[in-house]
Amino acid sequence: MQNATEKFRAMKQHGEKIAALTACDYPTARLLDESGIDIILVGDSLGMVVLGYQDTTSVTLADMLHHTRSVARGVKNALLVGDMPIHTFDTPGQAVDTAKKFVDAGAQAVKLEGGASHVAQIEAITRAGIPFMAHIGMLPQHVREEGGYRVKGRTQSEAEALLADARAVEEAGAFSVVLEIVVADIAKQITKAINIPTIGIGSGEHCDGQILVTHDLIGLFPWFTPKFVSPQAHVAEEIRSAARAFIERTRNSRTRPSRG
Ligand code: KIV
Repeated sequence: MQNATEKFRAMKQHGEKIAALTACDYPTARLLDESGIDIILVGDSLGMVVLGYQDTTSVTLADMLHHTRSVARGVKNALLVGDMPIHTFDTPGQAVDTAKKFVDAGAQAVKLEGGASHVAQIEAITRAGIPFMAHIGMLPQHVREEGGYRVKGRTQSEAEALLADARAVEEAGAFSVVLEIVVADIAKQITKAINIPTIGIGSGEHCDGQILVTHDLIGLFPWFTPKFVSPQAHVAEEIRSAARAFIERTRNSRTRPSRG
């Protein structure tokens, strides 16, 4: 697996952009994989876009492993990354146990939300030989304490903390780092400052790669679309119109009541 992750470092060195998307189920994973996506993340955003929770803080390890297993059946070429849900990496030992469960479920790498504060967990995971993707910036697992999805890096101290986080996760052995809704200029500075690829979400065009929640990209979760997303399709509308056509066809084909 080391080669798979080294490939992304090499892509950064050659200026080749990395494309990543989320998947929660077999057909989506297979379609993305067949389309040539580089990385498929089983993101805990599935708590919102599949399970219907308000945020990702109710997602359990059992939920994530169930979805990881189904995604793994559909992936042949992309790197499959499993997202460790909240409170499954509170200590280094717990982080390694959780990461191993993801590997048993078919993930080739894992991700957790946190920077310098989680160096011990990241080191423990990479020491166990499991490739690790970091995630800094806006951390959705902390949305309740934060009181919303706030752009990160607006102040000097926030920008410095982000840079320190990026350096810390690289040093701890991460092969890449997700930057979530970070001010574009700060994301650019981080991208220049570290050797591992930055994968941006709502963090501007200067990152080494981009990731989106597939439901947002294809318009499958129409009740909320983040500001930085321009949907490439409107699948929710397709579903609604197919359902309406089916309902109409079914109702129009009503059999006449028999006279008994
Ligand atoms: O859970 C998720 O989908 C994520 C991506 C948005 C990076 O963490």
